[in-house]
Amino acid sequence: MTTWSSPPAAALSSGRRTGALAEAAFVVCLEARPETILARLTARGDTEQLDRPLLATDDPLARITELKAARQHLYALCDWAVHTDGLTPEQVAAETIRAHDERAAEILAAAGRVEAMTAPAAPAPARTLHAVPEGAACMVGAASGEYPVFVGWGTLSGLGGLLRDAGLDRYAYVISDETVWHHLGDEVEASLRAAGIEFDSYTVPPGEASKSLDSASGLYDWLIDHRAERGHTVVAVGGGVVTDLGGYVAATFARGIPLVHVPTSMLGQVDAAIGGKVAVNHPRAKNMIGVFQQPRFVLADAAVMRTLPEREIRSGLAEAIKMSLLDSEDHVAFLEDNAEAILKLDRDATVEAVRRSVCFKAAVVSEDEFETTGRRSVLNYGHTLAHAIESTTGYSRFRHGEADGIGMMAAGRMSVAMGLLAPEILDRQRALLERYGLPTNADGLDRARLLAAVALDKKVQGKKVRWVLLEGIGRPVLRDDVPGEVVASALDSVLD
Ligand SMILES: NC(=O)c1ccc[n+]([C@@H]2O[C@H](COP(=O)([O-])OP(=O)(O)OC[C@H]3O[C@@H](n4cnc5c(N)ncnc54)[C@H](O)[C@@H]3O)[C@@H](O)[C@H]2O)c1
Ligand SMILES: [Zn+2]
Repeated sequence: MTTWSSPPAAALSSGRRTGALAEAAFVVCLEARPETILARLTARGDTEQLDRPLLATDDPLARITELKAARQHLYALCDWAVHTDGLTPEQVAAETIRAHDERAAEILAAAGRVEAMTAPAAPAPARTLHAVPEGAACMVGAASGEYPVFVGWGTLSGLGGLLRDAGLDRYAYVISDETVWHHLGDEVEASLRAAGIEFDSYTVPPGEASKSLDSASGLYDWLIDHRAERGHTVVAVGGGVVTDLGGYVAATFARGIPLVHVPTSMLGQVDAAIGGKVAVNHPRAKNMIGVFQQPRFVLADAAVMRTLPEREIRSGLAEAIKMSLLDSEDHVAFLEDNAEAILKLDRDATVEAVRRSVCFKAAVVSEDEFETTGRRSVLNYGHTLAHAIESTTGYSRFRHGEADGIGMMAAGRMSVAMGLLAPEILDRQRALLERYGLPTNADGLDRARLLAAVALDKKVQGKKVRWVLLEGIGRPVLRDDVPGEVVASALDSVLD
């Protein structure tokens, strides 16, 4: 078995060499987040490591992030990735051996594997080197380039200026929903006018039903009527429905025109507007018609959530809780300590909660933009069951985040039953969800129908359901070997 650990890009850039690797070995990439890499270099006390020419910069973390993003298309060629954050060297070795023993034979036998690895790698995308714009919480590294996510309080009035700074000032097509536009339309219009940007706006009725091909079609008509072209920008101002719909339209109109997200709901700010997944629903399957389209920037003004109904705030915060459990002890402790302030939308606590979620998701997405290595899939913690709960209840009984709470409890139970997670962590997860007023179980759901819906979910790989489980806070794992009786008993535990 040969492993391949953070190889220098030059060593991989030749198809001949990747071919030799591919033919000779099961290629495992040892992944780590930039913060982890920097911490490891620093912890060795080995300042010479930081004197590497490539890291000789005032901001080595930014440099590591940038190098990683630029090489990601090469790392993505590996057969398997082990996410080493939080693991000891022994655990990394054990995980690598497990992957080899369980998966190597099947993966090595796959048709076209060597050819895929040997194909000339896509050129590293052109990037502007890391001038993180003022006020940006973090950057998302994407194949189409890097983009900033701005998180602040009272910053919506700066939208026009940001569009101008980004060179997106020719014409703005603002897409929103009627409720959001009622609250925020004047401020958005004033900001665009002040920056001298011409614009037009289009609103859809609020609610999931607007995330449809019909709405998209209406938007295409509107864009054609206005002679929209590729130098113009779609600005999506609203919750996840609007950013998904607006993003899908921007991605597909004229083969893609620039997109800016202005998320206004909690779910939108902490999750939906980050990462470039945009979609509309098919009558038979949610989010089925979609693409990856990264925005040019995201502007999250937490102050606009003051008009958001309380249930929407709580439900959106389920995603923040999920991010924290996937991220770190420190992140979980922050949400535990600040629940009251965040639920009241206290300025500093809310901005910090949004910032932490956004930056965690940005880091994950930057490592695995197209969900190929498994890193991004961990964001589905709790979601396999949540989607089943939502679909079997007709998307009406639960808000998405509420279904997530129940889904996370089931996934946590499975983690404990599989011997992966300490029961105390599951108790902590439950307490955290309860603190934010989120359900951890529900009555009246039918186990057989839920299981059937789980099997239909698009996260099923082959014929096996792949669950995101936890081995601890900040240590998610993907498992497709959860026995049926463990799933059944975890479901029963949340269905009473
Ligand atoms: N693309 C992704 O990665 C991703 C991730 C998670 C969820 N989603 C999608 O997001 C959607 C759900 O998003 P959502 O929960 O934001 O729903 P939503 O867009 O329907 O917003 C919820 C409600 O809040 C209202 N609202 C939004 N901002 C407001 C404000 N500032 N003041 C007052 N009211 C406001 C809306 O009008 C709506 O009635 C789903 O379609 C889901 O599939 C996408
Ligand atoms: Zn979700």
